[in-house]
Amino acid sequence: MVQTVLIKHLPEHIDQTVVIQGWLHTKRSSGKVAFLQLRDGSGFVQGVVTKADVTEEVFHNAVSLTQESSVQIQGVVVRDERAPSGVELQVSNVEIIHETHDYPITPKEHGVDFLLDHRHLWIRAPRQRAILKIRAEIIKAIRAFLDENEFTQVDPPILTPSSCEGTTNLFHTEYFDRDAFLTQSGQLYMEAAALAFGRVYSFGPTFRAEKSKTRRHLIEFWMIEPEMVFTTHEESLIVQEQLVSHIIQHVLTNCSVELKAIGRDTSILQKYVAPFPRITYDDAIALLQKDGHDITWGEDFGAPHEAAIVEHFERPVFIEKFPTSIKAFYMKPDPERPEVVLCADLLAPEGYGEIIGGSQRIDDPELLLARFKEHDLSEEDYAWYMDLRKYGSVPHAGFGLGLERTVAWICGLEHVRETIPFPRLLYRLYP
Ligand code: 4AD
Ligand code: MG
Repeated sequence: MVQTVLIKHLPEHIDQTVVIQGWLHTKRSSGKVAFLQLRDGSGFVQGVVTKADVTEEVFHNAVSLTQESSVQIQGVVVRDERAPSGVELQVSNVEIIHETHDYPITPKEHGVDFLLDHRHLWIRAPRQRAILKIRAEIIKAIRAFLDENEFTQVDPPILTPSSCEGTTNLFHTEYFDRDAFLTQSGQLYMEAAALAFGRVYSFGPTFRAEKSKTRRHLIEFWMIEPEMVFTTHEESLIVQEQLVSHIIQHVLTNCSVELKAIGRDTSILQKYVAPFPRITYDDAIALLQKDGHDITWGEDFGAPHEAAIVEHFERPVFIEKFPTSIKAFYMKPDPERPEVVLCADLLAPEGYGEIIGGSQRIDDPELLLARFKEHDLSEEDYAWYMDLRKYGSVPHAGFGLGLERTVAWICGLEHVRETIPFPRLLYRLYP
């Protein structure tokens, strides 16, 4: 029996006859030889079918093969220095499993709406595959880092009775005879979990009914939310920069083929090593004003502001201590200056903007109660959250890293829509 192998393992089978199972990506042929670009999910390889070496039927199968037909190919693995993987296949048999006709995504240019309508097929394209592969490796890197640093994964609910990040972009749904919302963030539940486990993280989908049609907003996105007890704002920043550095190093080490496939300049990525610079919100405002931006203390940053700030650093940069009035109810005020909170946003360079939002949390029950009132939050809805300050409250901090924005930045993409298999956008719920 001839062994069936994955394309990525072909270099381990030089001079052996093997079978690969996959699809035809593209094809070139003359009267005497056909070059098949084959893919199987694990990689790409060229199969060379020489008329003189195979039966008439096999050669006919090869030259008539259509894009995205599924095939089983037998051949001998030979070295080829010009091939990206260093090998090609000298084909002896071509068996068609399913013949495809009129595959919609041809090698010509397509508009982005057309491609998104065909996202279920578009993900087969080499560039899309590379991006989603890097996404998977980034997830692996995050889990490895957190698992090695004593974090336990805890899964928060997706259906929730109340909000975490304000009520303006809550996704409403029905929960039998009462209202419910899709989670905006697992944070409040992670705070409960941290008091049970010490260091925890969640990794799951989050939802924001944001009427934003920008290159960095998704309606459904994935967030990693670590939460740590006996931890200050400053200590949390160290974990954040180490995590981001670890992700970059992991991708550089494990995704060279994919980074090359998408044309990412890796010399830029190599520079993104912790520690990252830190500036206060105050200094950021001063910087922007000096650059001629029309912004005053107390206003939040927009995308152009964030881009202008990072331009001064060319590396990820933390903006610390935002005004209390523009941040979430749970953030702990700076004891020396209660008009600002112990929080930070990590801005990615190259114009990608905020990839992490984090803070130290209020641990004092009196202050939390006051915040409920200021933010018009029902004490009853948040009674369980208040319990965390009543029973063994400790200083604690955490953060949320947006997976898709991180992938977009590391891959150097125009838009977050390509960083998730099936993007949910303002005007898109299909496929
Ligand atoms: O800054 P955010 O809103 O923070 C929280 O939700 C906190 N509760 C997290 C925590 O402390 N546990 O969101 C965190 C990150 C942002 O920095 C951004 O990367 C990403 O989530 N994000 C989005 N990504 C894509 N599309 C959107 N609409 C996003 N909104 C936030
Ligand atoms: Mg934020």
